[in-house]
Amino acid sequence: MSAPLLLHSLSELRTILLCLLAAADARSVVEIGSESGAFTRELVAFASNRGGGVTTVEPRPAPAILELARTEPTLRLVEGRSPEALARVTAADAWIVDGDHNFWTVVHELDAALDLGEAAERPPLLVLHDVAWPCGRRDFYYDPEGLPSDAVHAHTFAQGVVPGEPGVVATGGIRGEGRFAVALREGGEQNGVLTAIEAVLARRPGLELAVIPVVFGVGVIWPADAPWADAVRDLLAPYAGLDLLDRLEQNRLRLYAHVLELQDALRRVDGARNRALGALQDRVDALEADNGALRLELARLKATA
Ligand SMILES: C[S@@+](CC[C@H](N)C(=O)[O-])C[C@H]1O[C@@H](n2cnc3c(N)ncnc32)[C@H](O)[C@@H]1O
Repeated sequence: MSAPLLLHSLSELRTILLCLLAAADARSVVEIGSESGAFTRELVAFASNRGGGVTTVEPRPAPAILELARTEPTLRLVEGRSPEALARVTAADAWIVDGDHNFWTVVHELDAALDLGEAAERPPLLVLHDVAWPCGRRDFYYDPEGLPSDAVHAHTFAQGVVPGEPGVVATGGIRGEGRFAVALREGGEQNGVLTAIEAVLARRPGLELAVIPVVFGVGVIWPADAPWADAVRDLLAPYAGLDLLDRLEQNRLRLYAHVLELQDALRRVDGARNRALGALQDRVDALEADNGALRLELARLKATA
């Protein structure tokens, strides 16, 4: 399999994330949003080795996930949309939140995970993806129609976003191409994944947050008084405090935006070239038809001379 142009899966951070789960002594894991199952597979191996299991919540499970759920007894697939589908999920030691990246959904997911943890007297470790640009301060929606209308900002399925631009761009940029929509504006109230985290932390004291600023940003939340809190804090310190990682991420995002711009320009050039070639071919066909008619006329004149 060829390497992806843009790293985007949490599985890229498997080494750090699995160490974190081990530090928090996690056995049971809930994953929201499995996509191709790249990270689900890692989680299942991790949890099975520790005598636990994984529940993955996904409205559109990929064939690989259906197959994994069929063959792997320690994986439970809850087919449905979070947060509604979380009614079918029980407390877990750790949650991996990487489903629909918008304020309303993430607030409800965090509250559900923390409420279940409180009821079970087992406050969980929470790992959230996409807490940095572009979703940190801007809602993305897989299914805006499925959310309460007052939870959805004005959005577009067609236009994209580029670093440093709070609006959307007419061409280029990171965009869903019909698969997901982006809010037209970045920032402001109740907009984005990091904004959702801050809202929940503001009304639930005793939780700590650290952000690893790579691969679109990974936020880790843990109860400050958990017996494993020091281990988690120590593990995260070198990554969360390293400004180089932040600069590398900004750099790759700008480069990727540039690649998208070049790809779009190339498509436009290809389109123009194909249109010019088509017009030339039409002209050649017309000339050949004229030529044929003239030959016939000449033959007719010769025959009657
Ligand atoms: C960014 S991908 C997840 C990537 C995966 N966690 C990884 O790191 O490899 C987001 C996934 O969330 C799913 N999704 C979208 N809305 C959801 C929702 N409301 N609840 C759960 N999953 C959702 C999408 O179908 C998609 O598979």
